[in-house]
Amino acid sequence: MSQSELELRQRYQTLVRELSEHDRRYYVEMAPVVSDAEYDRLYRELRSLEAAHADWISADSPTQRVAPAPVTAFPKVVRAVPMLSLDNAYSEGELREFYDRVIKGLHGETPAFVVEPKIDGIGIELTYDGGRFTLGATRGDGRVGEEITANLRTVRSLPLTLRQPVSLTVRGEVFMDKADFAAINQERALAGEELWKNARNFTGGTLKLLDPRLCATRPLRVTLYEVVNGEAVKALHSESLAWMRELGLPTSPDVSLVSAWETLASTVAAWATRKSTLPYEADGLVAKVDSFAQRRLLGFTAKFPRWAAAYKFPALRAQTRVRGIEVNVGRTGAITPVAELDPVELSGTTVKRASLFNWDEVRRLDVHIGDQVIVEKAGEIIPQVIEVVTGARTGDEKPVVVPDVCPSCGSPLVKREDEVILRCENAGCPDQRWKAVQFFAHRGAMNIDGVGEMLAQELVRKGLVQDAADLFALTVDKLVPPADAADAVRIDRMAKKSAENLIAAITRAKETATLSRLLIGLGIPHVGTVAAQAIAARFGSLQAFAESSGEERRQMVAAIDGVGEVIAQAVGAYMDDPTHVALIARLRERGVSPTEPVAAVVSDGPLAGKRVCVTGKLTRARSDIQKDIEAAGGKFVTTVGKTTDILVAGEDVGKSKLDAARKLGTQIVDEAGLDAILHGASAPAPASDQPAG
Ligand code: IVH
Repeated sequence: MSQSELELRQRYQTLVRELSEHDRRYYVEMAPVVSDAEYDRLYRELRSLEAAHADWISADSPTQRVAPAPVTAFPKVVRAVPMLSLDNAYSEGELREFYDRVIKGLHGETPAFVVEPKIDGIGIELTYDGGRFTLGATRGDGRVGEEITANLRTVRSLPLTLRQPVSLTVRGEVFMDKADFAAINQERALAGEELWKNARNFTGGTLKLLDPRLCATRPLRVTLYEVVNGEAVKALHSESLAWMRELGLPTSPDVSLVSAWETLASTVAAWATRKSTLPYEADGLVAKVDSFAQRRLLGFTAKFPRWAAAYKFPALRAQTRVRGIEVNVGRTGAITPVAELDPVELSGTTVKRASLFNWDEVRRLDVHIGDQVIVEKAGEIIPQVIEVVTGARTGDEKPVVVPDVCPSCGSPLVKREDEVILRCENAGCPDQRWKAVQFFAHRGAMNIDGVGEMLAQELVRKGLVQDAADLFALTVDKLVPPADAADAVRIDRMAKKSAENLIAAITRAKETATLSRLLIGLGIPHVGTVAAQAIAARFGSLQAFAESSGEERRQMVAAIDGVGEVIAQAVGAYMDDPTHVALIARLRERGVSPTEPVAAVVSDGPLAGKRVCVTGKLTRARSDIQKDIEAAGGKFVTTVGKTTDILVAGEDVGKSKLDAARKLGTQIVDEAGLDAILHGASAPAPASDQPAG
């Protein structure tokens, strides 16, 4: 190797180390020390070195998180130290019994307890050898788990290398933030797809995907809470938590150390309200004896450690009666059951309907019409039926009949080989059509004001509109025919004025909507806002997108950073369907040919390089504020995360964004504060200069 090559190789190794450190600062410490632009620059440099020297590529490189091919199976992992479960305490009284048992077991000594949130995720075990992540496994039955290393490598908060070359095994939980999960389900609801039951199921399903590339698209996180054989290294559990943190492993920031019963009880009580401020789902707390020596004295029962207990939060549940089962037809043809309920109050809202997810779930729960059921708010968002009160049956309950034809169009329903979902596969199905039209028009897509559920349904039912392209052939006369047109189709409650407004909204969408909005509106599977924007930026116009050959298009999409093969396949499959090609052709004929504005990067404005989130009520339209922010060189973002620099808080702001900003040390300004920055007051200090708190 020549001198210059040697230097390049050293540079390569430095880059791998530096980027892993930046990942740690970002994903574990939540306090990045470089800007996104600087990170991207280093990443590109690493990529180009790897492109030129494939033989240098190290498994620890951040480019190597996602394996390029699916695995065929998850081999079994047999562990020497089984992963036990915990004894549950469902009330303060039961927690007190646990506390008293511990004191008795320690012959009157009062131990210190570490209290940690009990994350409602999937238990995992990670092995590091000489500082390298070598094995990741599920909990399984405790003794035998499944090896899911390739999937776990895609979790960005999981370090591939530790900051010291030590060998150890740690345990923790893989989970998803509530907001990330809600966003995923919201997109699915709009798409008429079956909802994921809760973040935990979704996380479990994700970890069992054979293709790590698919797993990499899901926003998983990891928190670690035990070092296996920690007593060999430290005297206290709290010390082992600190040690994990030093090594670069993510641990919970919400841990407390208590001793007296009163403090334990008040800590647990404080969590009743604090719980809802956590970004993830916690189903309780875990109280653990801190001292490993005391743990050894206490030992284990057949099933549980005697030194720890899970205190379960009371669930938000209510009992009510199932009035009937509504059969819902989604935009993509998914046929799902929804329970219609006698209205019942549940944590501040009246619940009238609850998801039953799919027909297997109906069978599993054995729900009958007329049954008394328990409903629970999953993730405090969608209510779901969790159990039938069989003891309350009178004998008058009627079994639920699984439909065999579509309630909308009468087509026979089918179950695809690899799915649990029942589907209507008739592309002409009226319910699917009006939902597709509504989806096309919704705020996140083409944003055509007025085309809500009712109108989309009427337009399709009355034959005025078959698909999205037909919206652009509507006229005021078609919507409100002259009074003397005897057999004209009439839309209920549509006056001339509202018809004019609707046509104006459709025309506005035609003239101003961007390609990314149109792509979102088409409802291509897997293509949400972020992917649509990336694809639109790459093609620039609907013309370029429509006129490229199938192969060109697939390659272009697959080459977009952060998009990948799954989405490329989905776009390819969508465009292989002649009805979709015809739809796009008709849209273009009717004058819908959007482009994607190239975001001019302003590099010297007062907000250059800053990520700004805006929340609450403001005096000006959000889109105007967005324009101002972008014109000042800032990037408009919709969530408060670790890389957000400024939160602009208007009136009536939601607590969650403010709390997140406070926690992350993000600068918070009001509208006047933003104006001051925009009009020349000095740029704020970067968030990373402030404590991560
Ligand atoms: S300690 C023997 N700590 O809850 C000690 N577990 O019911 C066992 N969990 O399998 C685990 N957060 O998957 C512990 N801070 C935490 C936890 C936690 C969630 C899960 C874990 C475990 C289950 C026990």
